[in-house]
Amino acid sequence: MHHLLTLEDLDRATITRLLDRAEHFRAHGAPRDLLSGRTVLTLFFEPSTRTRTSFVLAAKRLGADNVNFDLSRSSTSKGESLLDTLHTLEAMGLDALVVRHNENGMPAYLARHARSNVAVVNAGDGTHAHPTQGLLDALTIRQRRPDFESLRIVICGDIRHSRVARSDAQALHALGARDIRLCAPRAMLPQTLDEFPGCATAEDFDAAIEGADVVVMLRIQKERMADAQFPDAADYHAHYGLDTRRLALAAKDCQVLHPGPINRGIEIAPEVADGPQSRILDQVANGVAVRMAVLAELLVPPA
Ligand code: NCD
Repeated sequence: MHHLLTLEDLDRATITRLLDRAEHFRAHGAPRDLLSGRTVLTLFFEPSTRTRTSFVLAAKRLGADNVNFDLSRSSTSKGESLLDTLHTLEAMGLDALVVRHNENGMPAYLARHARSNVAVVNAGDGTHAHPTQGLLDALTIRQRRPDFESLRIVICGDIRHSRVARSDAQALHALGARDIRLCAPRAMLPQTLDEFPGCATAEDFDAAIEGADVVVMLRIQKERMADAQFPDAADYHAHYGLDTRRLALAAKDCQVLHPGPINRGIEIAPEVADGPQSRILDQVANGVAVRMAVLAELLVPPA
């Protein structure tokens, strides 16, 4: 594996190897010098709390140098092209570039133009992919339920604009999940299921959640839709919000995931977000371990 741009073409064995390594790092810590002398650059063109911080921590915990590219102070704000920025940073001795961008395909574009010794990691591009989120969600689910084949999984919210939904579906399908339901009002369902292997769609959340073992809740991606598309918040919550009444329709130990940032009272009620079935903070903790595993996989050649 040279870059991590999408989970689309990763097989079960590769995903399992990454998750096992992340689990190992969580349980035993990581060799502090695994990436010593290596440089990881985080380049974020969209806001981020969890993803950026956890990549920075992941790099540091493996002993890498981390440079956080401050876009507001950089020359891209003076109109320097992204490729000129890339080549400038490469000349300083760069091993990995972690990039988030609002345009689909921008990390792949940078990967095509990067020096052959630079690994590119997609930290979320437009509506296309968020591979490390897909991996950390799969790891979180697997910690309680490794029997993916028998799981009923519901992903609910703005599926159409969600790179998380795409990467989650791809990871879970590769790991064996066969009952994945994408639930949303029609305007937020994807136009095709091409990027959602093995998934079915549903508009009635009460029906879709019945007996579910896992529910992944998603934020409405307001920044990726026209204002007119944005639904009334109270109406949305009534039909697609996860509250305790609705959660009671799911299986008894149903795990509740959300990639964050959460909008309390819109897609998820506070008592569910903070309740005993919530895995939201476990996802955050797993995020650091998964990003360590990914950086290690890309930067340390197999012995
Ligand atoms: C997600 C993202 O940016 O795609 N958040 C994250 O990475 N933790 C989902 C979102 O922004 O709603």
